[in-house]
Amino acid sequence: MHATDNPAPPADAIAAVSHPNPYGYYQRLREQAPLCFDKVLNLWVASRHAAIVEAFESPALRVRPPAEPVPRELIGGPAGEVFANLVRMNDGAFHAAHKPRLEQSARRWKLAQVAHASGEATRALQPVLDANDFLTVLPAQVMGCLLGVPAPQLRQTTQWAHDFSAGIAAGASADAVAQAHAAAAGLLAQGAALGLGAVQAANRIALMQQSLDATAGLLGNTVHLLQQRPELSVQIAAAPDLTRELVAEVVRWDAPVQNTRRFAAQDLLLCGASVRQGDGLLLVLASANRDPALNPQPDRFELQRPQRRNLTFGAGVHACPAEQIAMEIVAKCVNTIKAKGGFDSYFGRMIGYRPLTNVRVPVFAHSSGSRLAP
Ligand code: HEM
Repeated sequence: MHATDNPAPPADAIAAVSHPNPYGYYQRLREQAPLCFDKVLNLWVASRHAAIVEAFESPALRVRPPAEPVPRELIGGPAGEVFANLVRMNDGAFHAAHKPRLEQSARRWKLAQVAHASGEATRALQPVLDANDFLTVLPAQVMGCLLGVPAPQLRQTTQWAHDFSAGIAAGASADAVAQAHAAAAGLLAQGAALGLGAVQAANRIALMQQSLDATAGLLGNTVHLLQQRPELSVQIAAAPDLTRELVAEVVRWDAPVQNTRRFAAQDLLLCGASVRQGDGLLLVLASANRDPALNPQPDRFELQRPQRRNLTFGAGVHACPAEQIAMEIVAKCVNTIKAKGGFDSYFGRMIGYRPLTNVRVPVFAHSSGSRLAP
């Protein structure tokens, strides 16, 4: 992580997400305070694999604060309507009833189809977009293609997915919320035209929206690693199938989704600690991946690591249904740009990370394409 050779440790587990190298800090957390209450963040922070798995398995811990199932600022508009119907944002009977259909939806695509869509989207977007925009647009465009969005509507649909995602994020501005409502209305109209009910239409949107930052982070972290370790580029040039292994190890070693949250619906004991109803928890997935209890020699990047294990895609009932899709999008994209040439000059030097609270997305210095037009 050459952005800073010896940076000061991050102030906390949220600052760690955009820190040049948070992994020593995570190690100290795991060793000294694997589940602790951070008074500044006002959150419990779980950093050891066992603590995070226990949290994922606890029915007392929910994906939303029980007192606010839909963020107040979204209520009364289309973005709130979509949010209320997302499998990602619900627990209990609603989640159990609708998750199987979401999984089925994600399973309908063969990896060869995903790879084809990613190769096509890479060839179309890379010549016209700045590298940082490319990271964000590619995953939504691939998902739009797979979902059968007609080519003339792809650009608008991708923009809507982006606006929806930005406007539902905690702390979004009033303008961003207004844009999210407009985007949700456009995307819901697409679902209605396909004959989908409200829940299906909302979760069709999720297949695009959930892909955005996380897949951008996986692609960006893979690019950054290849910049630091030229020998890996030589290895994948000789055997392009190895790119899948490379991406799978990046998922573990430098997780794009560094943390996720849970909220206590009742008092509970977690790893022996008393968690009170209403408390929030930060589950540091990126730390669990480096826990020696999960992977031997966890700080070593091993291209062909046997029995690689990670929590980057979550675990338990809310586990990501699209792990293979995300990794295939990234592997195919990397191989496509590598085959075309100009990989290093397109991305340029990595100069930091987007200021996000849970997803680690690098920012590249070089701008060789036009900006994404709104
Ligand atoms: C590198 C890329 C990705 C990463 C790291 C990632 C990670 C995750 C994680 C950690 C969760 C669980 C969150 C929690 O339990 O709090 C999740 C859920 C989810 N992801 Fe992904 N994801 C990625 C890409 C995608 C893509 C491409 C899609 C869509 C095609 C997708 C769709 C979903 C959905 C719908 C859920 C909600 C599942 C549920 O709540 O039951 N993800 N993802």
